[in-house]
Amino acid sequence: MPDGWQWDDTLFQGSAAYYERGRLPYAPGFTDVLAEVLGLDGRGRLLDVGCGPGIVTLALAGHFAEVVGMDPDDDMLAEAERRAGLRGVTNARWAAGRAEDLPAGLGAFRAVAFANSFHWTDRDRVAATVLEMLEPGGAFVHLSDLKSWSPQTPLPLPAPPYERIGELVRRYLGPVRRAGQGTLVNGTPGREDLVLARAGFVDFRRHPVPAGQVLDRSADDVVAWTFSRSDSAPHLFGDRLAEFEGDLRSLLREAAPDGRFAEHLPPTQIMTWRKPDAVG
Ligand SMILES: C[S@@+](CC[C@H](N)C(=O)[O-])C[C@H]1O[C@@H](n2cnc3c(N)ncnc32)[C@H](O)[C@@H]1O
Repeated sequence: MPDGWQWDDTLFQGSAAYYERGRLPYAPGFTDVLAEVLGLDGRGRLLDVGCGPGIVTLALAGHFAEVVGMDPDDDMLAEAERRAGLRGVTNARWAAGRAEDLPAGLGAFRAVAFANSFHWTDRDRVAATVLEMLEPGGAFVHLSDLKSWSPQTPLPLPAPPYERIGELVRRYLGPVRRAGQGTLVNGTPGREDLVLARAGFVDFRRHPVPAGQVLDRSADDVVAWTFSRSDSAPHLFGDRLAEFEGDLRSLLREAAPDGRFAEHLPPTQIMTWRKPDAVG
């Protein structure tokens, strides 16, 4: 949990409808890499905690007998269920709740994944619970974008003006990053390796999944990206939401009058840990 910050259920309020469109996908090879490093064979169960609209849950559904996506945001879960229906995925179920509510009667798992969600939880407590929920030898999986990398190819179109978007958000919401009803003075925490080691996990490995492809992004995609984020989620703007969106769209028109942008897909960083065979 970020220092000095209190979780509340408005954290991603209003973001679900924008999430899939706005966020860049994980590197396309991430499921193959995970299947290989975890030796997935279609058996066992996956729990995806903080699953949002089920992007990782559904991408991995074919590698498990059952996948369970858990999230405290009902709109995210509704979106996940809708996307499962569109994809014809029949071995996914959805559980409402926070990671801190685990084990929540969900049973035992071969793998428990947190994709861009672990930092929002009470990490020591959650890691200890997940250790209990995993089968012996089971895996804790952490997915995020690789932070430090430099794309090698030029972009054929302007990049989304992320710095200017940040300035606009700060003009509306103040200088300190917002999150739910609070502010994140020190950002979100890292060093998952220390947390997982403290909990008793072993065999920490990093598996970078290369990317770097150039993606076309429309002005609507960039607006969706802005509203998909906890620090500029729709609820934060209150009755100035339409005014903010108007200013955001003007800024995007200035940067690219035809509304077309491009950006590089960042590599995905997968980190895995194992539950020791002898524990539990
Ligand atoms: C950045 S989104 C990631 C969504 C999805 N895992 C993905 O990678 O596409 C973070 C998600 O974590 C959820 N979340 C926030 N706090 C949580 C908590 N304490 N326990 C479980 N999920 C939480 C949010 O509701 C949101 O859907």
